[in-house]
Amino acid sequence: MAPELTLTTDEQAHAARVLDAIRARIAAAGGALPFAEFMSLALYAPGLGYYSAGARKFGAGGDFTTAPEISPLFGRCLARQCREVLAVTGGSILEFGAGTGALAATVLESLAALGALPERYFILEVSGDLRARQQEKLARLDPALARRVAWLDHLPDVALPGVVLANEVLDALPCERFVMRGGRARRLGVGAGPGGALHEVELDEWLGLPEGLEAHALPDGYRGELCPSLHPWVASVAACLGRGLVLACDYGLPRGALYHPDRTEGTLLCHFRHRAHGEPFARIGLQDITAWVDFTAVAEAAVDAGLEVAGFTTQAALLLALGIERDVAGEADGTARYARAAEARQLLMPDEMGESFKAIALTRGLDLPLSGFALQDLRRQL
Ligand SMILES: C[S@@+](CC[C@H](N)C(=O)[O-])C[C@H]1O[C@@H](n2cnc3c(N)ncnc32)[C@H](O)[C@@H]1O
Repeated sequence: MAPELTLTTDEQAHAARVLDAIRARIAAAGGALPFAEFMSLALYAPGLGYYSAGARKFGAGGDFTTAPEISPLFGRCLARQCREVLAVTGGSILEFGAGTGALAATVLESLAALGALPERYFILEVSGDLRARQQEKLARLDPALARRVAWLDHLPDVALPGVVLANEVLDALPCERFVMRGGRARRLGVGAGPGGALHEVELDEWLGLPEGLEAHALPDGYRGELCPSLHPWVASVAACLGRGLVLACDYGLPRGALYHPDRTEGTLLCHFRHRAHGEPFARIGLQDITAWVDFTAVAEAAVDAGLEVAGFTTQAALLLALGIERDVAGEADGTARYARAAEARQLLMPDEMGESFKAIALTRGLDLPLSGFALQDLRRQL
């Protein structure tokens, strides 16, 4: 094994604890757990899961890098989209899954510079570990900004006007896995072998495929993922949005492309120390597990919840439309300009994040063209 992939004694002990807890759940469930339950435990079991325990996760010393961690350019662009909406709706920003707090910090600083601060900047974060990191980081902001930040334990009971942000949150929602058998989608689960290692099992259950997916078009043995918590997530966010915008960015595709018959192995990806691989039963509790987002499902859920799908585009088109090039050119210092240009390339280039990441805009009561979606409209693909 490459030296950088070797686990420390503490990491081995942690992975063993998580494995024990999951094995106990498998035994209690009679020998197998649906994949979504396994993923939920591996990522979010209190004190054990990847997001709930202390793994470093983000940045160079972690497992993966997200757009707000790559560059403040991402947050500056999003701030301009927020300003446009807040100018009409007033109100607050609510960010889901704020990671290290990097996006929150940049958005608040940018909006302050534009004289367009939201009333409050709410954060809803399921991970206690990340919430503590966000609190530490955002406490260092100018006190006039830090005062506006508040953490929520659950969604607000009243509808808030303003903007909801969710960057790389939907791909972290636990997903089900299936394999096509005789024209039907058989649910996959997780069992434990005699030596204790986890392995995949085919459950005696069938999953309904999403609308528009012709089961017979998917070859026998085809594997894919479904995210049962996506629809409820959109519905619950819609329920607490007054007049305003939900802006969700993530890697994913419209349904037709996501479940293309040629994509026979699905999109499940695990991240450990900047290596992406497809082995969810390795290093449980120490690695991230994600699946690409079905943006057609997001749009359907939004329409069911009474929201309008106001835009769907690539991350590159979003950031270009929101002026990322001006931000780079505007750096007064040559070294900084050079560094920003390199960051922009990572965010924009098709072989980096530019094409595989998409942005979707869901609105309520906003009769307003959104600048971020002016350059490219991919809604017809949904
Ligand atoms: C891949 S990280 C992205 C973090 C951050 N948005 C960024 O772009 O750097 C996923 C984040 O979503 C959070 N999360 C996952 N499910 C969530 C949910 N249902 N509600 C709120 N946050 C959630 C995780 O704890 C984590 O902060």
